[in-house]
Amino acid sequence: MYLDPEADPDQFRAMASRAVDIVERYFAEIADLPAMPLTTAPAVRELLREPLPQEGAALDDVLNVVRDIVYPLSRHNGHPRFFGYVASPGTPVAAIGDLLTAGLNANVTAWRSAPAGAELEHVVIDWFKSIVGFESNATGILVSGGSMANFSALAAARTAAAPEIGRLGGGNQPPLRIYVSSEGHFSIQKAARMLGIGSENVQSIPVDAQMRMDIGQLERRIDQDRQAGFRPMCIVANAGTTATGAFDSLTHLADVAERHRLWLHVDAAYGGFAALAPSTRNLFAGIERADSIALDPHKWLYTSMGCGCILYRDPQAAAAAFSYGAEYTRPIGLSQDEAFAFWDLGPELSRPLRALTVWLQIKLYGARNLADAIERNMECARHFGRLVEAAEDFELLLPVALSIFCFRFQPRGFTGDLDELNERTLVALQRAGRSYLSNARVGGAFALRGCVLNYRTTIHDMETLLEDVREAGRLASAG
Ligand SMILES: Cc1ncc(COP(=O)(O)O)c(C=O)c1O
Repeated sequence: MYLDPEADPDQFRAMASRAVDIVERYFAEIADLPAMPLTTAPAVRELLREPLPQEGAALDDVLNVVRDIVYPLSRHNGHPRFFGYVASPGTPVAAIGDLLTAGLNANVTAWRSAPAGAELEHVVIDWFKSIVGFESNATGILVSGGSMANFSALAAARTAAAPEIGRLGGGNQPPLRIYVSSEGHFSIQKAARMLGIGSENVQSIPVDAQMRMDIGQLERRIDQDRQAGFRPMCIVANAGTTATGAFDSLTHLADVAERHRLWLHVDAAYGGFAALAPSTRNLFAGIERADSIALDPHKWLYTSMGCGCILYRDPQAAAAAFSYGAEYTRPIGLSQDEAFAFWDLGPELSRPLRALTVWLQIKLYGARNLADAIERNMECARHFGRLVEAAEDFELLLPVALSIFCFRFQPRGFTGDLDELNERTLVALQRAGRSYLSNARVGGAFALRGCVLNYRTTIHDMETLLEDVREAGRLASAG
């Protein structure tokens, strides 16, 4: 192949047409593939490993590897009965968006690096603000995902609480403290570790029966910490936990944050776009009082991997954490808007034009369509909850929250170890490949856990899932 497309003007179209064939066939067949291929690391490695190729290979030969090995030997997040973790199925529009993004290959460091791209990102950020109801002078940027969004929020919160650390390091000051429910995502602990706050200074607050942070215990812990000489810094509220979909009471947490003058960060990486859906809109009351919000378009907005978002209520607070200048980046002869730099609001300098795919997705499908799909996902999860409750051989471990359900197989008369039986049931289900669940712990019990995050999933798929789990449970019971 020629590096310079002008050397062979037909080359790009030929390659694109073969690539589109592969993706088109994949979309057509996805429901018939096993949700997870049965393979091993050595088997896949054996098919792909080779010494550094010195010469370019033939296009067909290479794309055949993608079609026959890379695509089939992948976990199919877009399979209608893939319910593991929090996995976006992607969309045809997102696939095209990523092609257009790479074609332009903008580097969205600042307005002057990518004028249209920067404005597109501002447009998308404004849409997201309107979805969650954040005030108009709030700001934000797109980042690689929820972990980076949470990291950015905590970096801003740390600077607000202890501005000197960014310049001088921690010194001998008492440790800062972050409060999150025991159900919070581990990216909070990771961020605390990376920011030098220390993962052990993330205080895990117990939850109530619905897995929401216990507000009384939170306040007591903050008071105890202050008395013990720690520096309380931030409360992290969950707007949809990863394991069970629990939604903390944002209004109460905003009250506590206000009373104790703490930063309030809302981790809405999973649940955030449920703000579009009428049946869950009320859960977001109070979110407008947050200092920062993490959202993940690459989860429930169904876009392709690699797109999260962090919103900050106060642009100055974000800039205090991230802004940095050098002679080689000094704006010369630019107005304020044109001197705008994304590196003032997050950790990255070079950044892809993440906004293009998100913009295309919302423009072409429309927010109403996406909201309907999110609502249908939740209805599928609720339907499954009802099926489990009606079944004699299953137990629903928690009420369905957002689009997550947690349950277990409990055949009548079984007197053995239910956790062990359900672990074996999960493995049997995943191996069979017709449906895929992951796991969680609910009140100490091992739970089969599913998250509906796919516009392809139907009520019928939920009925099939129950049958598939029942069959896997039978296999597991038989030993
Ligand atoms: C609630 C929550 N926060 C943060 C994350 C981390 O997001 P990412 O995987 O995009 O880094 C996840 C991932 O599932 C999540 O569910």
